[in-house]
Amino acid sequence: MSFRTTPSVDYVEDVSPGSGALPPRAWYASSDARSLSLNGSWRFRLSATAGAEDDSFAEEGYDAGNWAEVTVPGHWVLQGDGAFGSPIYTNHLYPFPVDPPYVPTENPTGDHLRVFDLPSDWPSDGGAVLRFDGVESCARVWLNGTELGEFKGSRLAHEFAVGELLKPGANVLAVRVHQWSAGSYLEDQDQWWLPGIFRDVTLLHRPAGSVADFFVHASYDHTTGEGTLRVDSDVDGRVLVPALDIDVATGEPVTVAVEPWTAETPKLYDGVLATDGERVPLRIGFRTVVLEDGLVKVNGTAVLFKGVNRHEWHPERGRALDLETMREDVLLMKRHNLNAVRTSHYPPHPAFLDLCDEYGLWVIDECDLETHGFTEQDWRDNPVDDDRWTPALLDRAARMVERDKNHPSIVFWSLGNEAGTGRGLTAMAEWIHGRDPERLVHYEGDWNCRDTDVYSRMYAFHDEVEKIGQRLDGGTHKRRDLPFIQCEYAHAMGNGPGGLADYQELFEKYDRLQGGFIWEWIDHGVKHAELGYAYGGDFGEELHDGNFVCDGLVFPDRTPSPGLIEYKKVIEPVRIEGDGANGIVHVTNKQDFADLSALAFEWSCQVDGETVESGSLAVPALAPGESAEVKLPEPPADGRGGERQWTVRALLADDTSWAAKGHVVAWGQFAVGARPLPPFPATDRPVVEEGRITLGPAGFDARTGALLSVGGVEVGATPRLDVWRAPTDNDDGAEWQTDTRYGVLWRTLGLHRMRHRLVSVEAGDDALTVRTRVAPAAREVGLDTVYRWTSDGERLRLSVSVTPEGDWTVPLPRLGVRFGLPEADGVEWFGGGPGEAYPDSRTASMIGRWRSTVDRLQTPYVRPQENGARADVRWVELGGLRIEGDPEFWFTARRWTTEQLDAAQHRTDLAAGDTVWVNLDHGLHGIGSQSCGPGPLPQYFLKAEPVEYSFVFSTTR
Ligand code: GAL
Repeated sequence: MSFRTTPSVDYVEDVSPGSGALPPRAWYASSDARSLSLNGSWRFRLSATAGAEDDSFAEEGYDAGNWAEVTVPGHWVLQGDGAFGSPIYTNHLYPFPVDPPYVPTENPTGDHLRVFDLPSDWPSDGGAVLRFDGVESCARVWLNGTELGEFKGSRLAHEFAVGELLKPGANVLAVRVHQWSAGSYLEDQDQWWLPGIFRDVTLLHRPAGSVADFFVHASYDHTTGEGTLRVDSDVDGRVLVPALDIDVATGEPVTVAVEPWTAETPKLYDGVLATDGERVPLRIGFRTVVLEDGLVKVNGTAVLFKGVNRHEWHPERGRALDLETMREDVLLMKRHNLNAVRTSHYPPHPAFLDLCDEYGLWVIDECDLETHGFTEQDWRDNPVDDDRWTPALLDRAARMVERDKNHPSIVFWSLGNEAGTGRGLTAMAEWIHGRDPERLVHYEGDWNCRDTDVYSRMYAFHDEVEKIGQRLDGGTHKRRDLPFIQCEYAHAMGNGPGGLADYQELFEKYDRLQGGFIWEWIDHGVKHAELGYAYGGDFGEELHDGNFVCDGLVFPDRTPSPGLIEYKKVIEPVRIEGDGANGIVHVTNKQDFADLSALAFEWSCQVDGETVESGSLAVPALAPGESAEVKLPEPPADGRGGERQWTVRALLADDTSWAAKGHVVAWGQFAVGARPLPPFPATDRPVVEEGRITLGPAGFDARTGALLSVGGVEVGATPRLDVWRAPTDNDDGAEWQTDTRYGVLWRTLGLHRMRHRLVSVEAGDDALTVRTRVAPAAREVGLDTVYRWTSDGERLRLSVSVTPEGDWTVPLPRLGVRFGLPEADGVEWFGGGPGEAYPDSRTASMIGRWRSTVDRLQTPYVRPQENGARADVRWVELGGLRIEGDPEFWFTARRWTTEQLDAAQHRTDLAAGDTVWVNLDHGLHGIGSQSCGPGPLPQYFLKAEPVEYSFVFSTTR
């Protein structure tokens, strides 16, 4: 005999999408029907297993007075100071045994209880619907003791009809949420596992005769300039668009002259769908998306996507985002010239899509589906190729399309991410194509493009992308006729990505390449009292993927990282090139739809980085793709004999919804002539006295040749050869990339522990020469290094010549000198700035005179690593010293050593010491994006080769 001691929780492991919910429909906010937000503080009880508690809490009169409380929307693991468990981060590994559809018995289960008063004036006619916008991962719902049903599909809306159950006065809403369910197998996205009711809960009145579902079809014919509008509605009504004099019945098409919607010109027409019971506001954008001539075209024009992958993230609230945070994302994207977003890897909060419509961003809306963990077993038992799961997949597809179908910004429906291939995906694609033939279908996982309208890949290397652009990549017949996008590329983990400009060049060169989406928008760091921001492993997870979750273009607090500044420059909508010597600027409009009338142009002329004259530049309102040559004024007289250059900027001519007048969207710089380098006569002779050598303003240790001081400035540690940098995430590379992970190879070779052998100190007639050999223990490779010091009486010049010995099979991380200063704070330089730059991420580095402080030179990557270099530095002043370079150099200064930076795991591990460590580099190795994609391209390698470079030191005090 057997009997049940626990309530049935079979639904948790049931592959079906759930039961009891209403069919999916368009998501909208009514103008006049009442609604009641049920967000706020809810009673909360956590159990360790799904069936630990019976259902009695859902009954009316249940006393939850001793329960804890959580905020809805929210994730319980991010509330309660650890009392409710912790987040878990895994990339693709399931944090539970792969035993579909079963999940562990240990299944954190949160009972949520909310007693709400129905407003006394809540209308009694019609019905009511209870809407959940997002619950991870499985919920069972009761209202006033009656079970409504249960559902899965975490980032999808679910509604229940509750009209019959509502009562005047107090109503009891009970929701049981299980962290793990069969649905978890379909939600293996690379992100934190965060259970909870993390999006809004709303009660919606549904008056009699109210709108149920509706589908706005608004196309644009670029040959006539007319738009055709037809609003299909389950409930008949009228469609009004006052600005277009439209007043038609639902289901009836009407064609009128309109301004089209594009991401560059997001023209929306306000309208109303009026039925007997309700008025629903419409925001209509007319545009037509087609696949034609092997290209994705909108309104007849091929689009170049300059996009990013956006996960929903807030460092304290996880995926529970408020409207202002969503708006901040959109504003930041627009201000950094992005035109597209992939909602990786699930439909976002619907309000985000409203913002994309309003501000103008092309959207790939992606279904909440990823089964990546099955790759560990060669995709055996993958749910997307198992018919039992197909209803769940179709449910997810329908919930995405039906909810979001009225957004003009969406041009692609994406089936999901990294789910292999299978019949379930094909079924989804077929259903979507049938339901919405006016948009295209995207999915990356099927390189044969059986189900898709675009060939999409992630992290394809530059050379392969070029081949694809040239149509030399072969592939299935279907694929050969399709356009190409990179739905993910340029992994923005830590310092980087490098190589963006090289990708963009390819995208612009080959028509078939329609751009891409950087991985990814934001670092998913969790705010943490001791660590600054936590990442995988910081919560004691037994399986985790470390800081692979921090790979965004913005830091967790949404501060742009240098990668975003670089991307902004690389994708700028106007190309400004010039011939400085002849005073000519070439301006090209690189947009797809808008002319240049929204922009004003300004020229300025700099001498030694300081602007001496500026003015406005008349540039014609070029149509998309057009170029013009514009003459600059006569350059100002060259009174100082300095280095002269032009800077031309394109600015917003007027305020826009996303940035103010004067916001810089693009710029270009071009030299008038070469940098003048005055000669340095070596007039002084080294003088040896009592263990000290004096040369001009400098003192040296006669035995070691170490520089001790220049003028009055003590040098704490002499300039000496330095090749080490704290490896970046991209240097270390992903574990599956075995042969070119230089961060690993450098360490194996011992470049982080180079030894310096003093060969000789020679005080000659006009120079002090110090010869050394620099090499790692246990190896025969080395770098013969000669420091040659000279002086013109006032200043001190150091020439370093380096000759590699042995067989160097790896590039060098850096090559330059490092020294220590006892104190330094303010920094001024003439060179590239204001932000950091590396050989393959230096497009945004602008030549000028910049001021900063040692602290502000640091880029606070969530996991500390090499950062903060300034490019093309002619001279820098700090700590009482002025250092001029011949040639220009890379400059870095920090309050900790490279070794300390290398050892740090979190920002809070870095503590300022007594010395400011300065690196003056002749060369740096490129950055690349090998933490998931390609390493640096060969032209950015810092090869071990004979070189010579020099610096001139003087004092500023
Ligand atoms: C892709 C995946 C993303 C993310 C990225 C690496 O394979 O689609 O979700 O994991 O790699 O950060």
